[in-house]
Amino acid sequence: MPAKPLRVALAGFGTVGGGLVRVLQENQELIRQRIGRDIEVRKVLVRDVHKPRAVALPEGAVLTSNPDELADDPDIDVLVELMGGIDAPHALITRALERGKHVVTANKALLAENGIGLFQMAAEKGLSLRYEASVAGAIPIVETLKKSLAGNRIESLVGILNGTSNYILSAMSSEGLDFDTALKQAQELGYAEADPTLDIDGHDAAHKLVLLIRLAYGQEYPYTAMPIRGIRGMNRMDIEFAREFGYRIKLIAQAHVEDGRLAARVCPTLVHHTYLLARVGGSFNAVRVEGNAVGSLFLHGRGAGDLPTASAVMGDLLAVARGERPDNTGFVAQTPERAAILPPEEVRSRYYVRVMVHDTPGVLRDIAAAMADEGISMAQVIQKTGEREGVPLVFMTHEASARAMRNALSRAVKAGLLTTPAVAYPVL
Ligand code: NAP
Ligand code: HSE
Repeated sequence: MPAKPLRVALAGFGTVGGGLVRVLQENQELIRQRIGRDIEVRKVLVRDVHKPRAVALPEGAVLTSNPDELADDPDIDVLVELMGGIDAPHALITRALERGKHVVTANKALLAENGIGLFQMAAEKGLSLRYEASVAGAIPIVETLKKSLAGNRIESLVGILNGTSNYILSAMSSEGLDFDTALKQAQELGYAEADPTLDIDGHDAAHKLVLLIRLAYGQEYPYTAMPIRGIRGMNRMDIEFAREFGYRIKLIAQAHVEDGRLAARVCPTLVHHTYLLARVGGSFNAVRVEGNAVGSLFLHGRGAGDLPTASAVMGDLLAVARGERPDNTGFVAQTPERAAILPPEEVRSRYYVRVMVHDTPGVLRDIAAAMADEGISMAQVIQKTGEREGVPLVFMTHEASARAMRNALSRAVKAGLLTTPAVAYPVL
């Protein structure tokens, strides 16, 4: 007797949902060989059942816009949530778990902002709540932290976690595209969130970092406490100046432990061109993990897009189909304790700073004095020829706290030295 198929309800039939249906169809025989049973999509939830679809509905599947038809169907084993948003998927996943269904999701916003209760409920019911696709697309970082690196004390996590931002920065840097054109391309390629401000303002990367911190440390760094800065307003001038110093600008999400406290942030950051992270281009993502036993580990792969993301969803689905024991958080406790947080103002790094100044004698001395008054010393300086908005003065500093940098720039503003707001990015 062949084993019973795994019966799936698919919520969301957009970029990732469509990709999942394609992979399920194309790899059907391989799936049988691997798990000895079929995976059948029985219901598909969308907002608009009349919208034309790029991918055909799986054979025998019913298209609906009523979420209850998925959660309440006793013949469904697993809900795959690929809708996006927070409230609607939260309600649907809650209902599915209540009714004893496993859940697979790619929804980092939901899990980061309102996921703890879902993990508790899944644990109480002995159900899987799997989310490999929610962080860094195709890269298997969730399982890596939960399983392969489980015996390590994780010392740091540094990643490029947003494919859209990386695509935009790469296109601006190598093809000379402007920000808006590059964003439009990322949207057309299916990389961006339905609300792309989540990508370009750094929130999507921060959601993913919150999940990685839970997996690595078993601790909660609340999303609302995370310092987040995205790439909106990135000036090509800074990409070019950074290059002159030998750096690339990347949207970096990072966390490390310092004196028993967790430091974390998402911020455009200068990465030296010799680092692997500097070479991560287009929609690719990467994560560098430092563990006390493993040393440094670097994972690289496509961070967004239909098939790469579907690949991660498939891994989770096959694990459910195999009946793998739920290990949703990677820790015995399902509720992570709140992390002791190193205040963001105290986090130290080297900085790239660009200020636009009046081309007058002594201005470099005055800027240097504003920095020196906060204990910041300059390591390298370049001064460019004048522009309409003043003369760009660009420098790299030695290590300074975020507070010292903010105070120094505010001194420069108060002294009337700047013609436009300063740009300051940390250096990795
Ligand atoms: P998408 O292309 O916008 O597709 C969303 C799908 O969900 C659409 O089919 C939409 O229906 C349906 N939907 C949305 N809200 C709904 C609601 N309230 N009720 C019923 N159906 C609803 O989104 P996506 O890019 O595939 O992303 C889906 C999820 O995967 C998101 O959580 C996203 O963050 C995550 N993710 C995406 C990527 C990526 O590369 N795109 C990568 C990793 C993770 P209609 O088609 O009728 O509008
Ligand atoms: N919008 C997300 C990104 C999709 O660009 O990385 C993958 O999570």
